[in-house]
Amino acid sequence: MGLFRLTCYAYRKDYHRHIFSHPMACRADVRHENTKRKYNGGETRFFRVENVHRYFMYASWPIIPFFFYDVYVSITYKGFAELSLGSIILLINAIFVTLYTFSCHSLRHVTAGGGAECFGCVFNQSQPRSSARWGGFFRFQSALNRHHEALAWTSLSLLIFVDLYIRALGVHMFPNIILIH
Ligand code: FES
Repeated sequence: MGLFRLTCYAYRKDYHRHIFSHPMACRADVRHENTKRKYNGGETRFFRVENVHRYFMYASWPIIPFFFYDVYVSITYKGFAELSLGSIILLINAIFVTLYTFSCHSLRHVTAGGGAECFGCVFNQSQPRSSARWGGFFRFQSALNRHHEALAWTSLSLLIFVDLYIRALGVHMFPNIILIH
């Protein structure tokens, strides 16, 4: 999951622009602004790992059910069902991780059939139908994909918050609020 996030296009845009200042923007004349460094796409040396983002996406899929399993355990760990604020927070986190993962740009290519040169053509069905292998899911995923950057940052913030929240509960900094007993 860490490498999946590290190579995500949404974060890449931000760390290349705001941390490395390279490139500053997409426009060709701005890319070289204030720097003598030739822009080479960013995917060299260590950053070659960014090219395998799609495979990190595949590897992240089997991890998603564990987020929902955590929700289940948080509800049943006492031997009976009990809904707490912590369980709700874990559920929201699991949903956002799922939305973030399935809004991935790489998944668009998979759901479009992999051979499509033009996603808009798949929408307009001007390409052979076989190119939109998962037609309905492609449309759903494309709608989700429009919010990928927002989902990326919301989901990352939630992950950090949930981790701190669970740790705080673990050291009894505050009680877990029971909502339904
Ligand atoms: Fe962000 Fe794939 S592009 S997760």
